[in-house]
Amino acid sequence: MEYLDFAIELARAAGDVLKRYMDREKQIEFKGRANLVTAADKESEALIINRIRQRYPGHAILAEESGASGAGEEKWIIDPLDGTTNFAHQYPFFCVSVGFEQKGEIVCGAVYDPWRDEMFFGARGHGAFLDGQRLRVSDVDQLCAGLLLTGFPYGVRDKIKLAMSQFEAFVVASQAVRRGGAAALDICYTAMGRCDGFWELDLQPWDTAAGLVILEEAGGQVTDFKGEPYSVYKKQILASNGKIHGEMIRVLDATVK
Ligand code: IPD
Ligand code: CA
Ligand code: CA
Repeated sequence: MEYLDFAIELARAAGDVLKRYMDREKQIEFKGRANLVTAADKESEALIINRIRQRYPGHAILAEESGASGAGEEKWIIDPLDGTTNFAHQYPFFCVSVGFEQKGEIVCGAVYDPWRDEMFFGARGHGAFLDGQRLRVSDVDQLCAGLLLTGFPYGVRDKIKLAMSQFEAFVVASQAVRRGGAAALDICYTAMGRCDGFWELDLQPWDTAAGLVILEEAGGQVTDFKGEPYSVYKKQILASNGKIHGEMIRVLDATVK
């Protein structure tokens, strides 16, 4: 699995960059009112892009901080630091996400949490793993017994009614809801059964590409809020262990539109 091995190598090397920055003074810039970028995001992304350019000069890249470059059927989709706000506050929940798309399908990916030294990875048809251990979603089959994760987009202030209506409905219907602040890890936690479902509005391809293949290979289900097929270019994601998916769709259906 040449591309998977490379995704893992990139995620680990970039994670080492983040770890090196963790205790240092952060150099923060603002992309929006609450949307930050730090020197660590930039160095992590530069390392990943340089290595891809050297190894696969013909491949396309879609990376959060520098956007899209190149063309063709092979594309690396990169979040150099997912959980930047956490990182800027020294809150230890963040990761690197590297997904690989071929002919429009995400075929493999790696998500690395350098703080816990946890490497999640998966490839279509070959399973999903945390380090050497095969991942399986949880067996929870009732929403009322499920632990859910979510996040809020940077534009949440413009959609506060919708976001709060979904949040409120899930707080009532589930066992509990957590908001961790790194969507790629949220999806991997769903893949490994640390939680049972995840939903979020307005995520970007780099937040979900690697997680998507990891979760599906762990036996999970990913759709939009209506249960229609998910694509990383869509704006809604509902990811779950599959067993509570229908109940989650019904909850979302009943919220403010
Ligand atoms: C953010 C995180 C967060 C999610 C936001 C994302 P970033 O990514 O994944 O959990 O709620 O919507 O934008 O900016 O830290 O890479
Ligand atoms: Ca992100
Ligand atoms: Ca990011």
